[in-house]
Amino acid sequence: MIAGIIGATGYAGAELVRLLSGHPKIEKLVLSSVSFEGEKFEDIYPNFLGRVSASLLKAEDVIAASDVVFSALPHAVGEPFAAACMERKIHFIDLSADFRFDDDEAVYSAWYGKTYQYPELHKKSVYGLVELNRRKIKELAAKGSVIIGNPGCYPTGASLGAFPALAKGLFGGGTIIVDSASGTSGGGREPSRSFHYSECADSVAPYKVASHRHSPEIARNMAAMAAGFPSPQVIFTPHLAPMSRGILSTIYIPLSQKWRVTPGGANMPPSKEIEAKTEEIRALYADFYKDEPFVRVLPAGLAAATNRVRQSNYCDISVNVDLNGSTLIAVTAIDNMVKGAAGQAVQNMNILFGFDEKTGLEAIPALF
Ligand SMILES: NC(=O)c1ccc[n+]([C@@H]2O[C@H](COP(=O)([O-])OP(=O)(O)OC[C@H]3O[C@@H](n4cnc5c(N)ncnc54)[C@H](OP(=O)(O)O)[C@@H]3O)[C@@H](O)[C@H]2O)c1
Repeated sequence: MIAGIIGATGYAGAELVRLLSGHPKIEKLVLSSVSFEGEKFEDIYPNFLGRVSASLLKAEDVIAASDVVFSALPHAVGEPFAAACMERKIHFIDLSADFRFDDDEAVYSAWYGKTYQYPELHKKSVYGLVELNRRKIKELAAKGSVIIGNPGCYPTGASLGAFPALAKGLFGGGTIIVDSASGTSGGGREPSRSFHYSECADSVAPYKVASHRHSPEIARNMAAMAAGFPSPQVIFTPHLAPMSRGILSTIYIPLSQKWRVTPGGANMPPSKEIEAKTEEIRALYADFYKDEPFVRVLPAGLAAATNRVRQSNYCDISVNVDLNGSTLIAVTAIDNMVKGAAGQAVQNMNILFGFDEKTGLEAIPALF
């Protein structure tokens, strides 16, 4: 099978090249670039030297030669390529935000400053958070070519951390707070001052407080996950952390009356009741995700950490009931470039083609 990647020279595109180069079902990659057309991929990224020497083509030529196309372009430029893929009846997996809000153009326009160029395409697409929409993705694939709106990196970690609590009625209503810290590769390859080494190394700082584009995607996912139970208000604060890869999200979930425990007493360590409730919730999370190949609910005493998922498609989750007995603290760790982008896109491709979902994604995380 031939896979095409449009925007292959960006960070997400290059990560797709890395993962798909080792995918047993992919015989050939065809890659596009505007800035480096005609040059060899290995000359742009010398870590691929001797492994990926393909010359960079025009996007149109990539689409014409491919059985499946990934788009790793910025938002608001990929819709014509999606249209061309639908014309050719091949699947299109979009890593940008263009197909993440299909049923809500008003929200997309408000945050991304653009209306849909091809409104009919948004009826053929599905949001690619696999753990939420696997069945829908398979149903659409059975009918023909599909457009996947691959989820944003922050929404992936934040949503997966709250999903069991929302779907199983642990959430008691009110506000879920999500504090996330991301590595610098989240900003892409284009240099900018705030991502300059001397301005971001050795420091952690919030950015786009109360104004990040991933807020509506997180809120929308959580509302969908809470079907039948109350939907949360969401407060999301992203931080830039001095690391290349990874997103750690700490998610504070108010518990429903049924799941609350009486605190152990003012300023006292966790009571036996809180420890028991933590165990009960951990078991519920583990059961909820027991058939998910890439979600690991961590055992007691192990907190989610970005280095333990690095370069892998895992989302690790640790859970604790707070000392107050009424708040669940779920912490998730993902690699923003893999589960938060290219890995999740490959997982989606595997589902679309009926391959084992883990194909090409089984590498053990690189701790350092
Ligand atoms: N980085 C992450 O952690 C991450 C996670 C999830 C999703 N995403 C999404 O993935 C997409 C790519 O992100 P990235 O981080 O890889 O960004 P990036 O490093 O800036 O790469 C984007 C690439 O797209 C091409 N491009 C830029 N403007 C274009 C235009 N107007 N028309 C055609 N091509 C254009 C450029 O390559 P050429 O000039 O060589 O064509 C550029 O290298 C974005 O939509 C982003 O939101 C990124």
